[in-house]
Amino acid sequence: MSLMQGYREMCALLEDKLEAWFGESEEGVRWFFAPGRVNLIGEHIDYCGGLVFPATLHVGTYAAARIGREEGVAVRSTRFDRIVRFPLDAALAYREEDDWANYPKGVFSEYLTRGAKIPPLEIFYHGDIPGGGLSSSASMEVCTALIIEAFSGYSLAEDPMEARKEMARLTQYAENTFNRVNCGVMDQASVALGRAGHGMLMDCETLDIRYVPLPFETHTLMIVDSRKSRTLASSVYNERRAEADAIAKRVGAAFGEAVLCKLPAEKLDAALALFSEPILQKRARHLLTEPQRVEAAAKALASGDLVGFGQVLNAGHRSLAEDYEVSGPQIDFLVQHSQAFSGCVGARMTGGDGSGGCMLAVVEQERVGAYCAEVGEAYTAAFGWSPAFLPAQIGPGALEIEKNHSVMPQKEGA
Ligand code: GLA
Repeated sequence: MSLMQGYREMCALLEDKLEAWFGESEEGVRWFFAPGRVNLIGEHIDYCGGLVFPATLHVGTYAAARIGREEGVAVRSTRFDRIVRFPLDAALAYREEDDWANYPKGVFSEYLTRGAKIPPLEIFYHGDIPGGGLSSSASMEVCTALIIEAFSGYSLAEDPMEARKEMARLTQYAENTFNRVNCGVMDQASVALGRAGHGMLMDCETLDIRYVPLPFETHTLMIVDSRKSRTLASSVYNERRAEADAIAKRVGAAFGEAVLCKLPAEKLDAALALFSEPILQKRARHLLTEPQRVEAAAKALASGDLVGFGQVLNAGHRSLAEDYEVSGPQIDFLVQHSQAFSGCVGARMTGGDGSGGCMLAVVEQERVGAYCAEVGEAYTAAFGWSPAFLPAQIGPGALEIEKNHSVMPQKEGA
């Protein structure tokens, strides 16, 4: 089954659920999908204006939506057994008890602040992004932005590419202010701007993207979920951002470089010498060397050198674990066992917080079965629970799904 067919089947199921929960209506239901993302490399440098290398996954957030019969917005997700309602009011507030619905609420609040005229809406969401670290929140935010624009006719820019960049910035802003996670723009931009079969070499200052075909024919990009939960809000993420800001200030004062992650490689030693504090020096080393790894990874892929690509991934993990100190025992274990497995060319954590969540590994296709068995058994023996393995496909960026009547939705229980 093609990815698009799968998306349609999922949305058809959601449409049924929408009708079951909210009742029958004359209003037409529209379908939406926004993917999760995997960051191949370029970690913790988006908020320093660096170059990153993410790609959009085949899993994501699905939604069925229609004009509502009551005022305001009513949202429901397959994971939570109740409807959350909120008014179409720019002054919406974060409410602990609204849980996941604070993500869509933040996006609604921001569009309303910008003057979008949004009709009453009923929305049913479903997400199939595993674990943490694959941008499930950005995926839900961008999915919500698509719905708002589709039903209000509001657009953030005339040019479609510019409109998507603005959508990324708006949803990032919503997460920063409404949900109080000081994330960079990479996740929302990846979800809004992804392309099937391609990685994105993304400049996080301008959001200019070079789409790079991913030549993984002989190998599989494996996502491994440690099944250890964590949230960015309670992690060291905001602390690292504060350290990075301090580093950027000092490097900027010394070199007059506005963007930390664009400091030329030959100035690395002089920049590191600015830091007598061992911790800040380690953090700076990660921030200043990660951009070089992004370039090296893209170069290796362009010449079909998967082994070289894998070595860069391994070096990236070391830097995150030792210098930036954002990994944890479960992810380190998975990464080390993956790197030691013959048939795996490279592995690293992905996302902002390796104290749980997911990692990625590039594994020879023929060895995938053995890889899952070996790494899975070792992990289960060490931690007492098993990891989950997901062979990744690189799917499209966020989109409204055209309805196709040739697809027969599978009814639940059928
Ligand atoms: C999280 C944030 C991103 C980025 C990554 C680390 O995913 O949302 O903005 O900073 O961590 O690269």
